[in-house]
Amino acid sequence: MSAADQKDPDWLIRPLSFSDLPAILAIENMSYSTPWRESTFLSLMRRGDTDIIGLTVTGWLVGYAISWTVGDQAELGNLAVTPLERGKGIGARLINASLERVRERGASVCFLEVRVSNNGARLLYERLGFQSIGRRRDYYAKPREDAIVMRCDLI
Ligand SMILES: CC(C)(COP(=O)(O)OP(=O)(O)OC[C@H]1O[C@@H](n2cnc3c(N)ncnc32)[C@H](O)[C@@H]1OP(=O)(O)O)[C@@H](O)C(=O)NCCC(=O)NCCS
Repeated sequence: MSAADQKDPDWLIRPLSFSDLPAILAIENMSYSTPWRESTFLSLMRRGDTDIIGLTVTGWLVGYAISWTVGDQAELGNLAVTPLERGKGIGARLINASLERVRERGASVCFLEVRVSNNGARLLYERLGFQSIGRRRDYYAKPREDAIVMRCDLI
């Protein structure tokens, strides 16, 4: 059984809300060179088309995923797992749960962008059904880098 198949009874996936912001920001700041600001998370939490889900281990937030759905298209906009808990299948669980939610909202396809150099994340997305479909030049800063655009068909 691969790590991504683990079904730990202490793991719980739930929607996140304003009270989770400090824990989200702590993970965000440890995960990205250009972390999203609190105001970005706040405005996403107020939108009706966005799902912000987190995975807790014995009550502690260890990772989250953010997606939004417009019509039949969804975007997986953010995914992060706290460094000490990586490699245990938590990222995979969060992606699968996000895909379930956007499918329930009526999405037939989900897109995402990922740094060209982020081989770990790219492998993970590919394993879960995403395919590379394009490249956005200089999409990221710190360091400046292209994004690979990936797509996952949901039906
Ligand atoms: C990407 C990220 C969310 C993955 O979370 P995770 O909980 O470690 O993911 P999983 O344990 O489910 O990953 C399993 C698979 O992903 C791949 N993978 C994930 N991180 C990897 C890494 N650093 N190096 C190599 N492979 C990696 C492997 O294929 C791994 O397979 P394995 O379990 O058979 O070894 C996490 O590394 C992270 O938060 N990174 C920083 C933020 C980031 O890059 N987010 C994605 C932006 S698009």
